[in-house]
Amino acid sequence: MSKVFVLDHPLIQHKITYIRNKNTGTKEFRALVDEVSALMAFEITRDLPLEETTIETPVMEAKSKVLSGKKIGLVPILRAGLGMVDGMLRLIPAAKVGHVGLYRDPETLTPVEYYIKLPSDIEERELIVIDPMLATGGSANDAIHSLKKRGATNIKLMCLIAAPEGVEMIQEEHPDVDIYLAALDEKLNEKGYIEPGLGDAGDRLFGTK
Ligand code: PRP
Ligand code: URA
Repeated sequence: MSKVFVLDHPLIQHKITYIRNKNTGTKEFRALVDEVSALMAFEITRDLPLEETTIETPVMEAKSKVLSGKKIGLVPILRAGLGMVDGMLRLIPAAKVGHVGLYRDPETLTPVEYYIKLPSDIEERELIVIDPMLATGGSANDAIHSLKKRGATNIKLMCLIAAPEGVEMIQEEHPDVDIYLAALDEKLNEKGYIEPGLGDAGDRLFGTK
């Protein structure tokens, strides 16, 4: 069974409160999503392997650690996942970025894939699928199936806010994929929106609607 980590650092909780607030405008919303994504990147990379190297400090020779070359790929789900990319790249600048385009059919809530472009070596990379919202779980589930179909074997999912229904779907369909969240909310409403949630993440990020 995949593990669920709620990254409830005080700075993340504080910023999520402003992200949720309907009076937070597009410019500030975008900046906050970027900042929370960077803070979450710090946690999600906690288990990256290190190796020892020898360097000369101005004082003496010393053994010290560097990342042992694990290759990372970020896979934002379009379009709202784009808002999380730059924050993560600030901490993991060498990561490659693939894109999966999906939208939820407003009637059926089922995801429709319209675009996919991935780094050529995804089977060698640790992939982090990113999307602010995990609601029914349909979009993330489809995106992860698409990545696995193309050879990915090492995948994590990172979202700002999730509903229990979405977490359950990923755990059932992808027991190998650990889930990293800033908040786990109460439920979905009849329109498939997370309650209390933050509304429509794509619209709030890009100022549409
Ligand atoms: C939102 C969100 C997720 C999806 C979550 O995208 O960014 O991708 O809904 O819902 P689910 O878990 O029920 O699938 P949306 O379909 O609104 O598309 P957009 O990012 O283009 O606005
Ligand atoms: N997608 C969103 O953008 N918000 C929700 O609450 C659910 C799905």
